[in-house]
Amino acid sequence: MEHARSDDPLLEPAMWKLFRNFFNLAEKRRRWSIEDDIPWEQCNKNLSPAVADVVESFCAVELYLPDYLLHAIPWSRPSRARTWFYANWGYEESKHSMALNDWLLRSGHRNEERMADLDNDIYAHPWNMPHDNVVAMLGYTMVQERATALNYRNLRRRIQEAGGDPALEKLLMLLAVDEQMHHSFFMGAVRLYLELDRDSTLEQLRRVMNHFSMPAIHALADGKQRMTRIKELKIFDDEAYFKDVYVPLLQELGIERSEMRTRLPSKKSAPL
Ligand SMILES: [Fe+2]
Ligand SMILES: [Fe+2]
Repeated sequence: MEHARSDDPLLEPAMWKLFRNFFNLAEKRRRWSIEDDIPWEQCNKNLSPAVADVVESFCAVELYLPDYLLHAIPWSRPSRARTWFYANWGYEESKHSMALNDWLLRSGHRNEERMADLDNDIYAHPWNMPHDNVVAMLGYTMVQERATALNYRNLRRRIQEAGGDPALEKLLMLLAVDEQMHHSFFMGAVRLYLELDRDSTLEQLRRVMNHFSMPAIHALADGKQRMTRIKELKIFDDEAYFKDVYVPLLQELGIERSEMRTRLPSKKSAPL
């Protein structure tokens, strides 16, 4: 793993500030309870099976948490800010998988046996890091968190159109807010690297953002089918990625589209 300029004396204090803001906001405004904050008695048992399939796929992505942490902790270890962030992130993501799992069971769309099969499938098809560079991984996760927030929002819309499910709608809203805040942390981290070394950071962002695909689902035994269902329900596809993730993200980061076209690596920029 190539380590970014974590020896830059400005980077760690700025990253720590970013983390403390993330943490303080989460403590103040964002803590929620699986038991108390979701109207479980209002699960819709008659919701379309296609929607339940997509909920299961998103639950699978969340259930890959051990693999994400297994990889994230070693490359984050040089930075206390990133390590503390991942400790908190892991807590929040673990709640996401539990809440989605609970909905699948309580709504009657899945049983314990089927969920155990899913666990086995995930264990048999581990997730591996798509990039070997700290900035690339920060950029990748920044994009993925934004895409996940969008997925949950779009799924919520489809559920409302399909007759509604107050339990699942509330749950997805809570998850989408969490994902958006994860995204903000990673975007803040990418901004710091852009300020430190724009050329090298852009080089990594080109690798990540110009060739993005959602993680983990592909690795599953029936990954292709799962992706097709997500596209069929118009929750996420290449067009949504471009319109609702790629373009707004570049704008927010102050990056021109022309800067994202492939270039030869600049000789002047230090390796990140
Ligand atoms: Fe999540
Ligand atoms: Fe997240």
